[in-house]
Amino acid sequence: MAPKLFCFLIVSVLVAYYVYWPLPENVEEGWKVMIADSILRSLGHVGGLSELLGLSHYMDVMMLLTDFKHTEPTSDENITVTDTTFNKVPVRLYVPKKESNKLRRAVIYIHGGGWCIGSSAMKAYDDLSRWTVERLNAIVISADYRLAPKYHFPIQFEDSYAVVKYFLKKEVLSEYGVDPNRICIAGDSAGGNLAAAITQQLQDDAEVDVKPKMQALIYPALQALNLDTPSYRDNAHMPILTKSLMAKFWSEYFTTDKDLFNAMHSNSLQPSEASHLFSFINWPALLPKEMQKAHTYNHSPQSRMLEFAKKYPGILDPRAAPLLVEDAKLARLPQTYIMTCMYDVLRDDGIIYAQRLRKAGVEVTHDHYDTFHGVLLFLSFPTDLSIAKTMADRYLNWLNEKL
Ligand SMILES: *[C@@H]1O[C@H](CO)[C@@H](O)[C@H](O)[C@H]1NC(C)=O
Repeated sequence: MAPKLFCFLIVSVLVAYYVYWPLPENVEEGWKVMIADSILRSLGHVGGLSELLGLSHYMDVMMLLTDFKHTEPTSDENITVTDTTFNKVPVRLYVPKKESNKLRRAVIYIHGGGWCIGSSAMKAYDDLSRWTVERLNAIVISADYRLAPKYHFPIQFEDSYAVVKYFLKKEVLSEYGVDPNRICIAGDSAGGNLAAAITQQLQDDAEVDVKPKMQALIYPALQALNLDTPSYRDNAHMPILTKSLMAKFWSEYFTTDKDLFNAMHSNSLQPSEASHLFSFINWPALLPKEMQKAHTYNHSPQSRMLEFAKKYPGILDPRAAPLLVEDAKLARLPQTYIMTCMYDVLRDDGIIYAQRLRKAGVEVTHDHYDTFHGVLLFLSFPTDLSIAKTMADRYLNWLNEKL
């Protein structure tokens, strides 16, 4: 009995050691976050190992998470749910059953997952879409763009753009009974990146008459030029999204070439040739002091960027990096909701975008939470977090009030 007990003890200690991760004090329900994060980390380890052994790509293993959480398009007494295609791109469509004597509102949602994983059919996204329909009596279109590493930039952008463009056609809007003046483009994380980029591109697209009334960007990734902002430094090892994983996502968006990952991870993307772009992410001027702490701005232009930007022009392309545009372009954007999280590498991208949009005269609602990247999706048992409910609630209230 004793050896068994001893083994059990050892295993328990090892598991606890693996699961335990020091978290900031003001984070609620930390254990749930740690457990979810340890599942993610295990998948990451398996992914890394199987890539090392040449068995599969890292992201193929991470994709298991998406498959595991897959839901079928299930209608209920209030909502008709169907999987269909818009402009040949798969979408999941949520239409309320309740009669409406007015035209309806619509939300076009673009899921996150670092351009590599995720789908509209994942339980958390499916739930969020249903809640949006219930709360707003709106139509929700949830886009399923093609993913890396099989497809690279600009495919993810173009697929999502094709969905938006299809839906914004007058005849399509009238087919679904949607009010052309009450449409929002929303997304989280990489989906927030795509939503921001799409909203910008629509302003200049002469083929699109109907422009969205607003955009909602939930902890978006907005640039890959500088992965050395205070939020990248302070939160490099925080749960859910480490700096290393974000550098993987960014680099896979452009290429499977590991050189780019290494350069991003070690912050050597410091272009002298693109130095004017740095003013758009000049955090010492744009971030509140409490986020800057004692960090010093490390601007040491190196020439490697030219090489990378030539090879992967997407890095500096506003369709991938919507933060890297002139104020004049920002000024034409519609009303914006931005959500950021304190312990998130992407925090400063969102804060700086909010700041720059406001300065450019755009109406911005900015919600900021003391939590991690991605927790908005922790909505259902056993990984339900009360802060996720609060976040979803405030986002949906904003939509309901403003759209
Ligand atoms: C349908 O809507 C009603 C009224 O809002 C609600 O009480 C009910 O729970 C909804 N059904 C489902 C399956 O969500």
